[in-house]
Amino acid sequence: MQSKDLLQVAEQFGSPVYVYDAEKIQSQYNRLSKAFSKVNKLRINYAVKALSNVAILQLLREMGSGLDTVSIQEVMLGLHAGYEPEKIFYTPNGVSLEEIEEVNAMGVQINIDNLSILEQFGTKYPEVPVCIRINPHVMAGGNANISVGHIDSKFGISVHQLPHLVRIVENTKMNIVGIHMHTGSDILDIEVFLYAAEILFDAAKSFKSLEFLDFGSGFKVPYKKDDIETDIEELGKKLSKRFNAFCIEYGKELTLIFEPGKFLVSEAGFFLAKVNVVKQTTSTVFAGIDSGFNHLIRPMLYGSQHQIENISNPKGKERFYSVVGYICETDTFANNRRISEIKEGDILCFRNAGAYCFSMASNYNSRYKPAEVLWMNGEGHLIRAHESFEDILRNQVQLPHLVETV
Ligand SMILES: Cc1ncc(COP(=O)(O)O)c(C=O)c1O
Repeated sequence: MQSKDLLQVAEQFGSPVYVYDAEKIQSQYNRLSKAFSKVNKLRINYAVKALSNVAILQLLREMGSGLDTVSIQEVMLGLHAGYEPEKIFYTPNGVSLEEIEEVNAMGVQINIDNLSILEQFGTKYPEVPVCIRINPHVMAGGNANISVGHIDSKFGISVHQLPHLVRIVENTKMNIVGIHMHTGSDILDIEVFLYAAEILFDAAKSFKSLEFLDFGSGFKVPYKKDDIETDIEELGKKLSKRFNAFCIEYGKELTLIFEPGKFLVSEAGFFLAKVNVVKQTTSTVFAGIDSGFNHLIRPMLYGSQHQIENISNPKGKERFYSVVGYICETDTFANNRRISEIKEGDILCFRNAGAYCFSMASNYNSRYKPAEVLWMNGEGHLIRAHESFEDILRNQVQLPHLVETV
């Protein structure tokens, strides 16, 4: 998308606003499919948590995507968006057996990540085809919070517990159709994927009726021009070859599954916010915008560095700014960043705002969540309205005797 399109969206829908470029999502989907075109049975399950707007889910459904979900509510969103239950994969962590049973009744593929639930579920439903999440004990990921496959992580069943796992499967006679892993996000080095894949192949040999292997996700995307990223094409070439060889060894053509979030939607997203105030202090110049970590928490949560451009003055002289929000706590989007000269009223554009941005937004400080717009065929389409005061009050229950005193 070009700056003029983004400015048009800000003008038409107001600020702050999230904008998603449909074409970019489609081209990323096609890029991943192409990289693994040598694998006959490839399935891409979009990780709903990254960006869960129903219009985005529908866009990906049209492309043939399945879904990776982590909660019953994400499953419900997927069904609402028109996905067939068989195309939805459910990978919860630490949820109750009751929730898993409810999701199972919806006909969705269950992925279990601990031995206790596996045993209980297998005893009650031995006939249900189940996937198992393995923790391969690989330290990978751009940040401690998004590294989930290491030895201290709460995710998955330790690969060292394989003998116990196999015993539960044999005792319950459950039907294991897939094994899964996801080691983290923002993984640059393709050797990490290949190394972890070997652990999964090894574990797979313990199960005789597999239909698929799910390699999770974690591809690193670029955050600015010429930034480093996972070499998807190289990974495609190497992993496809190894996967195909494994299938021959296993004696069956399995499906290879990925469940990308960031790779599909991160770069497609832009967050637009207006500068409320430019404030010179003794140490810096603050650009204070009409937003805060209530709308985009990643810089404060993970230290993520979203590129920020002043699209109202793209050719202006560059100066150093600290871009901050209006929240009543330290609320910094960027420190000491070179941005073309900012005036009050300018629109700043945050890049890579498609993944884990709106989906992590809150109403902190009783602020409204922003609108979301899908840019498709040269036009902005509203896919979520800006909230209003009714949304803030919606589920609050007023106590009659207190109302009387107001
Ligand atoms: C189980 C699982 N699969 C897929 C993803 C998507 O990862 P990414 O956004 O890095 O592609 C995540 C992210 O947290 C995850 O936990």
